[in-house]
Order: sequence, then C-alpha cells, then structure tokens
Amino acid sequence: MILLDGKKTSAEVKAEIKIEVDKLKASGGKTPHLAAVLVGNDGASETYVASKVRSCEEVGFKSTLIRMEASTTEEQLLEIIHGLNEDTDIDGFIVQLPLPKHINEENVTKAILPNKDVDGFHPVNVGRMSLGQPSYISATPYGIVQMLEKYNIDTQGKHCVVIGRSNIVGRPMSILMSQAGKFANCTVTVCHSKTKDIASFTRSADILIVALGKAEFVTADMVKEGAVVIDVGITRVVDTTKKSGFAIKGDVKFDEVAPKCSYITPVPGGVGLMTVASLMKNTLFSAKKEIYK
Ligand code: GUN
Repeated sequence: MILLDGKKTSAEVKAEIKIEVDKLKASGGKTPHLAAVLVGNDGASETYVASKVRSCEEVGFKSTLIRMEASTTEEQLLEIIHGLNEDTDIDGFIVQLPLPKHINEENVTKAILPNKDVDGFHPVNVGRMSLGQPSYISATPYGIVQMLEKYNIDTQGKHCVVIGRSNIVGRPMSILMSQAGKFANCTVTVCHSKTKDIASFTRSADILIVALGKAEFVTADMVKEGAVVIDVGITRVVDTTKKSGFAIKGDVKFDEVAPKCSYITPVPGGVGLMTVASLMKNTLFSAKKEIYK
C-alpha cells in the first residue's frame, strides 16, 4: 500500500507555482491576487479560508480576506461580488460555501465573472469543463487529478466509482474521469443517496472516489483488493481526548481499508491539501490569462 501524501504533493505543486510567480514578478508582471469572501463564522469554513490565505503567502500571491456578518443579505453580498468583478487588481476570488441559509448559493455563484471564478463553480466553467474546453476546474476534483498524475497512477480503461454527485466534487469528478486523457479514460459509475446496494458497485471499483461526507462510511468489505481509494470526506466528530474537542474523519474507515489498497489518501493530509494547491494553480492561470485570454 502506498500513501497518497497530500502534504508532500501539495508542497510540490505550490513550489512549482512559486517558481512561476517569481518569474512573473522578475519580468515586471503583476503579483497574482486572490480574494476570499467569508460570510458568518462556521468553524470549518474559517479553517479552510485561513489555509487558503496561508497558501497565498507561501506561493507569493497577494490575498484579501473579506469577512461579512452571518446576517449579511444576499444583496449586500452581491454588491461585494460586483466590486470584486470590477477590481482590476483581483485575478480571482471565491465565496466560501456553505452560505447562511437565507442566501441563495446559485445566485451568488452566477454573479461571479467566469474569468475570475477560480473555484470553477460558475455554469460557464462547469459547461466548458464538461465539453473538455479550457476552464477553471473545481479545486477538489482538479487536486485529485493532479494527485493521480504525480503518482503516475494508471487509469486507462479502469472502472472508477464515484460516491457522491455534488456540484463541487462528485459530478465534476465523474465527468473528468470519463473524459479522454492520460489520467482519465475510465468507465465511470456514479453512486448517490438513492443508489441501491452501493457495495455491489464499490466492490468492482479499480478506483474508488468517496465524497459523500459520512464519516467512515466505506468499510473493508466494500473495497476490492488492490484498489486506489481517494477519500474526500472531512467530518468533525466529537473526540474528548483532543484539545479541540473533535477529530477529523474521512469517508473511509482508513485502518481496515488501507491494507487492501494499492494507493490510498489519508484524512487529514490527503485531498484537502490538494484542493488548496489547486485553487492557487487556478489563480495563477488567471493572472497569466491562460484560460480566458
Ligand atoms: N466549501 C467546501 N469546499 C469549497 C471550495 O472548494 N470552495 C468554496 N468556495 N467553498 C467550499
């Protein structure tokens, strides 16, 4: 079993980005600038956004964090988005999800200009990605593809099972894995909450990507010997032995599944770190105008 080390791999991706940023700056180009909008004070979102800001510093980007009260109205948030769309110094920005219930996420996603949507959530970017056209690819699926690439994992003609059909992870992941490409070309099955007998599908998976957000859902009996297992889950579970009062669990019961795998991502230290590195990569693409000319 080989551990797909998100810490090491994301550090490599970020080091590559830093080299590009240094080159850009040395040739008189502008410093890439990412902005993040955080509405309210959800604990997990605070952690993710802090990690994004920290990564900006590591790769030499400018970053701006805009904090808004949980009581912010949709109109107030849309106004901030319009301002960021028009700010020529900002190469890309994200609005951290989830948003408070009274704000419509679809309206917010659609308000971000596609060429600044480094999260890849706008319908234009999702559509372009689906058609295999240049686009910002949603950071978690993009991070997983980069992980497969860095470990040179053979995906050609393999059966890839994706558990989860969210707009952010499951759906784009299933599309990417079914497309033509060196780290794609899979036959893909998408399982979701209405799938009957999920284990009957997962047991035939050469590559199993789990993104349903249920701690330790995948057990050893659901996994084929030699499978590649990618765990996207990050759930906080109460753990009184920890100072924070919680432990982070993936969607896979790691201790019993890992011995059966050829490769597996740990949680934490796997996909989550690749997500942040991919956001940095999308922001660099934006600063260099590589997706939208
Ligand atoms: N919430 C969970 N994952 C993400 C992400 O990749 N981007 C944003 N904006 N919010 C998230």
